[in-house]
Amino acid sequence: MSKLKALDENINLAKKRIILRVDLNVPMQEGKVADKSRINKIIPIIKKFTNKKAKVILISHLGRPKGKIDGKLSLKPIVPILENLLNSKVYFSNESYGPAAIEKTNKIKSGEILLLENIRFNKEEESNEKTFAKELSKMGDIYINEAFSCSHREHASVCEITKYIDSYAGKLLSEEVNVINMLTNKAEKPVGCIIGGSKISTKIGILSNLVKKMQTIIIVGAMANNFIKYKGHNIGKSLFEKNKENLIKDIIEKCETNNCRLIIPEDVIVAKNYESETKLKSLNEIDDTDLILDIGENTLKKIYNIIDKSKTILWNGPAGYFELEKFFMGSNKIAKKIAQKTKNKSLTSIAGGGDTVAAINKSDCSDGFTYISTAGGAFLELLEGKILPGIKVLEINE
Ligand code: 3PG
Ligand code: MG
Repeated sequence: MSKLKALDENINLAKKRIILRVDLNVPMQEGKVADKSRINKIIPIIKKFTNKKAKVILISHLGRPKGKIDGKLSLKPIVPILENLLNSKVYFSNESYGPAAIEKTNKIKSGEILLLENIRFNKEEESNEKTFAKELSKMGDIYINEAFSCSHREHASVCEITKYIDSYAGKLLSEEVNVINMLTNKAEKPVGCIIGGSKISTKIGILSNLVKKMQTIIIVGAMANNFIKYKGHNIGKSLFEKNKENLIKDIIEKCETNNCRLIIPEDVIVAKNYESETKLKSLNEIDDTDLILDIGENTLKKIYNIIDKSKTILWNGPAGYFELEKFFMGSNKIAKKIAQKTKNKSLTSIAGGGDTVAAINKSDCSDGFTYISTAGGAFLELLEGKILPGIKVLEINE
């Protein structure tokens, strides 16, 4: 078992530029931060370094701009939130790397903070490009990864950068890896996994591996549309991913072979658009102009039943478009049910993912879970038993 490289607590950090890779990929709605959980978590970490008179350089991404500048995905709106929570000035750099950004990292004083613009505005980030990573490393003296939720990405600010600068696993990252490993390794059966959300492309592949470890898998959210369509139902204008039929078939077959019960919605809440009125429909009633935006009551009853029978529940991905109250019912009730059973000490519950955490906060249930991870995809991949590239580069082999 390998350990993660940790920074010596006693080292003098005064005047040192610390590159902190954080995950400020927070849920946004109409240009505003809809949930601050990920930001809240890193505040004490930043404070610890500024108290030690280090210069803190924050690198993060927001959304998936795919290597292009996209004003809607700028990290600038995060500045006042950080300032408020830190009670300190936060400088912002429109350049996320290069000479101008390096100059700014040198210019800020000890104990000050600089946030760099969305790192994914550069295509080299996602391609884990060497020269780009080298450039990034020039902005600091020490690199610390506190973004466990990004450690499943083989990206320059997560992986390649560690080759050119003294690099460490942050306290939060290590804690998350350890707790998730501990809770999932000794997970009491039956284990149920609820997977939803709209990041279909990254989660759908994980499913075929998870079926081997779970007794039940419940698919909700936009992901479920793929399954509903595969079963021959009309999904109208709903979100789904094309050309995934073989993968869906494979998941269904693997569930059968591995004795894993697969549950998909049997009724849904639809609307013609986000503003229009909602309707509860069985799968056969969905028409060409419908958008599926939440699960229905019958599906919920089935989910309750699984939660009741399980000893461990893992949850990643909301059940619907929970950002709008009228499509929040499914996620809200799932959160409340899990929290109630966890509080009765008859369930171990672990939830993860930016949107899932936001939904749990919205339902006021965050104190009802055994553990809430900041990570979604990384959490699922760790669960699957995968070696996460961002963790691997920070390991010391003993
Ligand atoms: C997340 O929200 O899971 C992380 O920030 C990673 O984002 P990504 O799925 O766009 O890589
Ligand atoms: Mg997210």
